[in-house]
Amino acid sequence: MSTDTTGTAARDEGPRPGDPADSPFVRACRREPGPHTPVWFMRQAGRSLPEYRKIRSEVAMLESCRRPDLITEITLQPVRRHKVDAAILFSDIVVPVAAAGVALDIVPGTGPVVTDPVTTRADVERIRLIDRDDVHYVDEAVRMLVDELGGTPLIGFAGAPFTLASYLVEGGPSRTHVRTKALMYGDPDLWHALAGRLAEMTLAFLKVQIDAGVSAVQLFDSWAGALSEADYRRYVLPHSRAVLAGLADAGVPRIHFGVGTGELIAAMGEAGADVVGVDWRTPLDVATRRIGPERAVQGNLDPCLLFAPWPVIEAEVRRVLAQGRAAPGHIFNLGHGVLPETDPEVLTRVVALVHELTVRPDGGRS
Ligand code: CP3
Repeated sequence: MSTDTTGTAARDEGPRPGDPADSPFVRACRREPGPHTPVWFMRQAGRSLPEYRKIRSEVAMLESCRRPDLITEITLQPVRRHKVDAAILFSDIVVPVAAAGVALDIVPGTGPVVTDPVTTRADVERIRLIDRDDVHYVDEAVRMLVDELGGTPLIGFAGAPFTLASYLVEGGPSRTHVRTKALMYGDPDLWHALAGRLAEMTLAFLKVQIDAGVSAVQLFDSWAGALSEADYRRYVLPHSRAVLAGLADAGVPRIHFGVGTGELIAAMGEAGADVVGVDWRTPLDVATRRIGPERAVQGNLDPCLLFAPWPVIEAEVRRVLAQGRAAPGHIFNLGHGVLPETDPEVLTRVVALVHELTVRPDGGRS
């Protein structure tokens, strides 16, 4: 079966039942009612799962992101186990950066480490634009996953220009992003050249995933919360908008997320998101007032809450759902990724609880 043709036909003719485009997750992204509030978790495929740790014990992180068989298996694990409403492609935000020719590694316990950090225009120009052949393993994995997942939607993703630039300029993870900000303030032309190049690369990467059949995309600007709103609007928003606006006609919802972005969520929506991801610091009703009625919200249980006794978790799930009712569409998620030490059974229980508390007997059609 050609998944490509099926996906395109579904988009052109409108969704059919059992089609991921008609799933509770995609309906909520579109601010349409559905049979229950959909739920998935950032980093649901990862170290919290023993079946993941087993597969990864002998394969390095970057290598596992380049093997379609492993990507597919790891992506499916949390869907089988937790019955979440969406799968998210197993990969990392630096995978396309490496494909664009930047020497880097993902170091266990540290994260991405770039061999020669970006400091000059020549460094920026060495970042190649990528096409499908450069990331053929992602294209193959998405096609296999779309076949395997049936009606369950697959979310594609990429890192946003600011967050990617931070790794490239700092050379690795940073608490203050001091080198990145120094470049931004000290040499705005070079900053815009770098962010613009990363935006082009990211747009191409997301188009590969959409062509292969993903049902939605999430643009992670995880570290944008380090910026003031004024600086975000000046130095970052135009580049994130280039990515999101470039997908406006692609027919799939666009989710935009960052951590510590309570002051930025309106601007992040304006960058061209259909759904704004909110971390645990901003209640979803407050977030909705800031974002406005044109966009759905995603979030926002504190990932640390999953370590509390069950009655505390249950009360907080109810609170998040109640505050999410203020939004024109709500996708339940954590406020950031699942922590590696999380008990996976708690995640399974949270999924069942969200479904049980939000089920609509009429399937949401009325
Ligand atoms: O979570 C896991 O344990 C899976 C394995 C793994 C991933 N990335 C998958 C991933 C590991 C060990 C990494 C390395 C890495 N890359 C880290 C973690 C360092 C550590 O050891 O704790 C970080 C911070 C990065 C950079 C990165 N990758 C960022 C900032 C993001 C955006 C999302 C976020 O968490 O803020 C990613 C995306 C990413 N890496 C995903 C996955 C599965 C995204 C998709 C998802 O949410 O599932």
